[in-house]
Order: sequence, then C-alpha cells, then structure tokens
Amino acid sequence: MNKKELIRIASEARDNAYAPYSNFHVGAAVLFEDGRVFSGCNIESSSYGATCCAERVAIQKGVSEGLRKIKMIAIVGPESITYPCGICRQVIAEFCDDCKIVIAYGDEDREYTMNEILPFAFTKKDLNHV
Ligand code: THU
Repeated sequence: MNKKELIRIASEARDNAYAPYSNFHVGAAVLFEDGRVFSGCNIESSSYGATCCAERVAIQKGVSEGLRKIKMIAIVGPESITYPCGICRQVIAEFCDDCKIVIAYGDEDREYTMNEILPFAFTKKDLNHV
C-alpha cells in the first residue's frame, strides 16, 4: 500500500461523508503497521457537537479491531488542502510513533511528521507520574 493508493481510498471514503449541516465533505484512510487499511468520512449530527471527523472515524474503526499503530494516514478535503483539526491531531498522536500524515487534494499532497503538526503534544508519557 503506497501513498497514492491510500489517498485514493481516502477520496473514495469522502463520497460517503454525511455532512448535511456544513456540506464540507472529508475522507480519510489509515494504514496500520500490520498492513490493514481503514477508511472514514465525517459524520455530522443535528446535535453539532456529536459530529465526528473523517480521521477519527477511520482511526476508531482500526483501533476497535485491535490495531494500535498507525503507519500512514491520508486526509482529503472537499475543495483544497484540508488540515486535521486539533482534536484529530491529538487522536492521531495517540496511535502514532513515527507515522506519516499526508494531506492531499487533487494532484497535490503534503507529507508531515507528527511533531510538525502537533509540536509539544501531550502524550501518555506525561501521565507517567500517576
Ligand atoms: N472535518 C473533518 O472531518 N476533518 C477535518 O480535518 C476537518 C473538519 C469535518 C467536521 C465537520 O463535519 C466538517 O468537516 C466541518 O467542520
């Protein structure tokens, strides 16, 4: 599974976005370390705060199947490069040791490390005193 394939899967997942309130359709695809891939789209709610972003839907699908390590995540927005929100950055960080974060739109893709998109992250290491 290469980067372009993962981006294509994220784009296909975007077609399933349920976004009647924002009309902002996002797709994501996560490649886990064992080679399995899970995709997701954003799922909105009339109670807006219950909305879940595409990235978290995809991650939760894999984690709920027992997977824990993200190798690469691709994110595709509706009309231009779309960066993940703060909550999603935190959730990606939970399952990312040395993963690639790929933001794509059309022919363009940009690749980032976790530290680039969430410097000084709060992680499980910070809880070691408990
Ligand atoms: N959204 C995502 O799914 N991922 C992002 O990275 C940014 C925002 C969704 C949430 C909501 O359904 C819509 O886009 C507008 O915020």
